[in-house]
Amino acid sequence: MVAAEDRAPGERPVALVTGGGTGLGLAISIALARDGYDLALASRSAEHLASGAAALAGLGARVRTFPTDVRAPDQVEHTVDEIGRTFGRLDVLVNNAAGNFVAPAERISPNGWRAVVGIVLDGTFFCSRSAFPWLRRAPHPSIVNIVASYAWMAGPGTAHSASAKAGVLALTRTLAVEWASYGIRVNAVAPGPIRTEGTDRQLWVSERVTESVRAGIPLGRFGTSEDVAEVVRFLVSPRAGYVTGEVVTVDGGQWLGKGVMPLLEEFRKSNTGVSE
Ligand code: NAP
Ligand code: COA
Repeated sequence: MVAAEDRAPGERPVALVTGGGTGLGLAISIALARDGYDLALASRSAEHLASGAAALAGLGARVRTFPTDVRAPDQVEHTVDEIGRTFGRLDVLVNNAAGNFVAPAERISPNGWRAVVGIVLDGTFFCSRSAFPWLRRAPHPSIVNIVASYAWMAGPGTAHSASAKAGVLALTRTLAVEWASYGIRVNAVAPGPIRTEGTDRQLWVSERVTESVRAGIPLGRFGTSEDVAEVVRFLVSPRAGYVTGEVVTVDGGQWLGKGVMPLLEEFRKSNTGVSE
């Protein structure tokens, strides 16, 4: 990619990242800015948007913020119109915005269910639908949806989010086929446990929880936002030009499970007769 500062305004591709002011969304925005994209950040909080834009300063990208609740189709439509007016194009959409909280299924109220499913599933559809007329005119258009491995496994404690992410994965594959004739690639990335301010508040709520999650990861550590951003960066680039409808898991092997691995480790330690 040509460095951002070497491209004239209007020549740089434009990426819309929902929830792009915090956590993984911000890391993705930074990676795309470094790759020469101009950035549109959309989320509810003016504070999150302003701090995200400040973190992107100095990377050579034009950055604009658009206060938006992705659950509201009119707001999404208005934001995409404004992006079109501001930048004159839209090349990449990253559906990253999400809401989540840990609760047993029987204690999730109808409103709590609607809040999470509305942000994750409805929001992803509304943004994709509104972005379509712009994406279809872009030279290398693509969408990346941020899901989680419980989209195809079980998500105990997060029935609302698991159900919504499963829907997003189905939407990813469906749009990949429907919009292939427009050259729009649609992929998903499934991060494993990543520590961000948002997830520290909503998911990794104590040392005990954090340690038990870490102990289940074959690579033995939480991931970083940058681990995820690198994969998104690849998927939207022409280097991934023949990849569509795919989900890339970035979870240190977590969803594969450790099986009897802890016992094997003990065996390795005690079996002194085996030569190296
Ligand atoms: P985060 O920092 O809390 O990000 C959530 C973002 O979504 C925030 O920027 C928030 O901004 C935005 N958002 C929430 N509700 C919104 C709404 N109604 N309309 C528009 N924007 C909204 O958490 P994160 O860890 O970076 O999560 C990013 C993505 O990674 C999510 O899709 C999450 O499901 C996925 N993920 C994360 C992990 C992990 O361990 N971190 C694991 C698997 C998947 P505002 O508050 O400004 O609206
Ligand atoms: N346990 C049980 N129910 C909860 C809850 C929790 N920890 N947190 C929220 N809820 C319920 C509320 O009680 C409410 O239901 P009710 O009206 O029946 O009481 C419902 O969820 C909606 O809550 P509210 O705060 O009004 O919704 P919101 O739209 O402002 O917020 C959330 C949406 C709940 C998802 C909020 O956590 C959020 O905005 N999160 C964004 C950041 C985030 O989750 N990051 C992690 C991403 S993986």
